[in-house]
Amino acid sequence: MVQLHEMIFRDAHQSMIATRMRTDDMLPIADKIDQVGFFSLEVWGGATFDVCIRYLNEDPWERLRALKKAMPNTPLQMLERAMNIVAYWNFPDDVVKKFVYLAKKNGCDNFRIFDALNDLRNMETPMKAVKDNGGHVQACLSYTISPIHTVDYFVTKFQKLEKMGADSLCIKDMAGMISPKRVYDIVKGCKDAGITLPINLHSHCTSGMTGMAYQRAAEAGIDILDTAMSPISGGTAAPATESVVAAFQDTPWDTGYNLELLIDLRKYFLKVWDKYRHLHRFNALKIDPSVTVHQIPGGMLSNLIFQLEEQGAPGKYREILDETAKVRKELGYPPLVTPSSQVVGVQAVMNVLHGRYKVITKETKDYCRGMYGKPPAPIEPEIMKKILGPKWKEEVIDCRPSDLLEPMWEKRKSELKEHDVKITDENIMTYAIYPQVGLKFLKGEAIAEFTSEQLPLSIDHRLIRAMVKQSFPEVKQLWLETLPPEKRAGPAQIPTEFEVEVDGEPFNVKVIPSGGYLVGGCTPTVTEPPKDIEGGVKSNMQGTILKLKVKKGDTVKKGDVIVTIEAMKMEQEINTDKAGEVKQIFVKEGDSVANGDILIQVQ
Ligand code: CO
Repeated sequence: MVQLHEMIFRDAHQSMIATRMRTDDMLPIADKIDQVGFFSLEVWGGATFDVCIRYLNEDPWERLRALKKAMPNTPLQMLERAMNIVAYWNFPDDVVKKFVYLAKKNGCDNFRIFDALNDLRNMETPMKAVKDNGGHVQACLSYTISPIHTVDYFVTKFQKLEKMGADSLCIKDMAGMISPKRVYDIVKGCKDAGITLPINLHSHCTSGMTGMAYQRAAEAGIDILDTAMSPISGGTAAPATESVVAAFQDTPWDTGYNLELLIDLRKYFLKVWDKYRHLHRFNALKIDPSVTVHQIPGGMLSNLIFQLEEQGAPGKYREILDETAKVRKELGYPPLVTPSSQVVGVQAVMNVLHGRYKVITKETKDYCRGMYGKPPAPIEPEIMKKILGPKWKEEVIDCRPSDLLEPMWEKRKSELKEHDVKITDENIMTYAIYPQVGLKFLKGEAIAEFTSEQLPLSIDHRLIRAMVKQSFPEVKQLWLETLPPEKRAGPAQIPTEFEVEVDGEPFNVKVIPSGGYLVGGCTPTVTEPPKDIEGGVKSNMQGTILKLKVKKGDTVKKGDVIVTIEAMKMEQEINTDKAGEVKQIFVKEGDSVANGDILIQVQ
């Protein structure tokens, strides 16, 4: 028998709709999910904590309590980033221990603990804390491909985690690139080595091989597979729960789950999926086998593209991919997962734009100093010298990074007492993990973000419906209706072939325009935006114009902000690289612009 770990309330919506699912979307169906008999249900941790307080004005602790109350029969799991907890930097032991205690107290049963570098020293404190509080430790290894990350590497590390007190083990394939053969070899290797703990496989559909990998994992004796209910599955998310259940029916791996009950759940989650229609991205629904070559997880890839556009160097994409692979190798093959993915990715961008290791980020230096943990493979002295200087040896730490941190809990507690907020252990923890965003939330200043239903253009609007149906003729017709009448009849819209009937006989008639003169239409008047003009200031990224900061006749100097633009859900400023008087403005607020489009002309 294989059991499933259901991820609809955490990884699924984190992968597909920017982690925006709300507690209100979860509670009405919780009772039914509780009846399935899942091995466990992932509901907390990862990015959910941050998103709750930052974008949803929801108390993550309250969510956990409510879900536990609604699902008393299913073990609830959280994703815990070792010493980073649910953030992106290291915390001291006292905060990590207190966090685990509070999470357990508020309803978390199972803790999936991982470290980006698979540095087991970073996993000791949270693992021990979970054991001390009576929880289930699922110890995780981040999966990646490199000469270091052999089958033996994983088997040996899993053996160590077993000795450290894990209750189950997990292969965390966050980029969705594990192949059927690799997963078979690792799982079989663990079983052959005498590991008796249940083994779980976490993966995403990104590479397109994941269904096959799940089958081979089952053949090798995997105990638990990660899936998500079909409405938020596939693409950059996990394989669909219902499909995996159906695939294993009448086999030795039969889950025994009630498929009809699952289909019932599916109907509910289709509605939830609709509620966040504005966050659907066609690319996230597709597979991308190139991940097997460049090994960069989807989330990191979109980040890289954004950083390139921001730097005005979108053409360097391929170069950056190659450079990322190089930097990763030089930095000792870290698995690319938060936060190591950011370290490697940003350094690769810097190397391509400014020359190799000419500009070095603080994060790269910290990484080389050992502040994230021990890199999987040693870094060559010549690279260390480039990054940390000739005295690099003096800067490298040998201890566990958190050993350098002072206890923080009491300090944060007294800081929070200075503010007019309710002092509870949970609130202190929220503040300790996210001092700025957390305080804003605790003061009641956070605002819950919109859902698709609250948008002025409802999800039932015929344009939205046509786009979702992907009916190109309908979308085109709607677009035409937005144009002034005189612009609607361009050459593309005029039929040039007709079938006419004369006395019941069909004839085909073709209208051939001669000398550029169009029959029955007018000359198209759509003007192309200028590609390059003197004094033209270009956009260095793609996005939507939020605000024009200049008007015709204004005088601007180099570096002045001319527009603000929304790109990748973030507000960015575009500055002029030319000085003078604003002669022409080519865009207005709400316009979409591409990288390289001319925004204004100065003289
Ligand atoms: Co994942």
